[in-house]
Amino acid sequence: MTEKRINGIKILHYVQADSTNRIALALGEAEHLCTVVADSQNGGRGRLGRSFFSPDGGLYMSVVLDPSAIVCGLPFCTAAAALAVKAALCDFGVGGISVKWVNDLLMDGKKVCGILTEARTENGNVNRAVIGIGINLKRPDGDFPEEIRKKAGAIGFESDKLELAAAITARLGEYLNQDSARIATLYEKSLAFIGKTAEVTDYADGQKKLRGVILGVDENCYLKLALESGEIRRVCSGEII
Ligand code: BTN
Repeated sequence: MTEKRINGIKILHYVQADSTNRIALALGEAEHLCTVVADSQNGGRGRLGRSFFSPDGGLYMSVVLDPSAIVCGLPFCTAAAALAVKAALCDFGVGGISVKWVNDLLMDGKKVCGILTEARTENGNVNRAVIGIGINLKRPDGDFPEEIRKKAGAIGFESDKLELAAAITARLGEYLNQDSARIATLYEKSLAFIGKTAEVTDYADGQKKLRGVILGVDENCYLKLALESGEIRRVCSGEII
């Protein structure tokens, strides 16, 4: 592991790691915005207990957050991270990114980034949160595994990945300083599929499958869906299929 600072952001860089989220969660009282980066992972964690394919050619990073330093509140960290990745990529000249609620970024309709937020609690209180971000910078040698090949894409990023990681973290720090209403507004503006009919799995309602038109998000960043019955449903935890 090598340690450096880029634009004030502390970076812990591993050539290979099991999971940068695991490492970041184990760091103890690490400073706010300390960032663990790996060039590849052999135990990358995804949402819902899934694994995250993490070969060479991607950026795998986890940012440690001190909850007392967050203005928008912990529930908005994933949305803030999605905005931070989009903004930092834009700073590096990569456009055309949209957010697939709740934690994926898309380019040309393909998933190019996933975000996983985890927390470490002590006596029932969150004392550190970790935002894990995995970005497909280029198509992997030998391509993506069959099961994700149709849905996964890469952004085609050639510049220094540690510079990108530091830029994402710096942007994240800025978004976390905004209030939650501002995050929800900006997040909605970046949302993919607005006005489109989609199927959504509602995890808070027994994995129920819902079908409706995506309207946007509410002030909590919950997805707003107009069901065929006319009902407007807010989904707090789920996935657009
Ligand atoms: C998802 O799409 O399900 C979320 C994927 C999050 C992957 C990132 S890669 C860096 C960090 N370390 C991990 O083990 N997972 C996150």
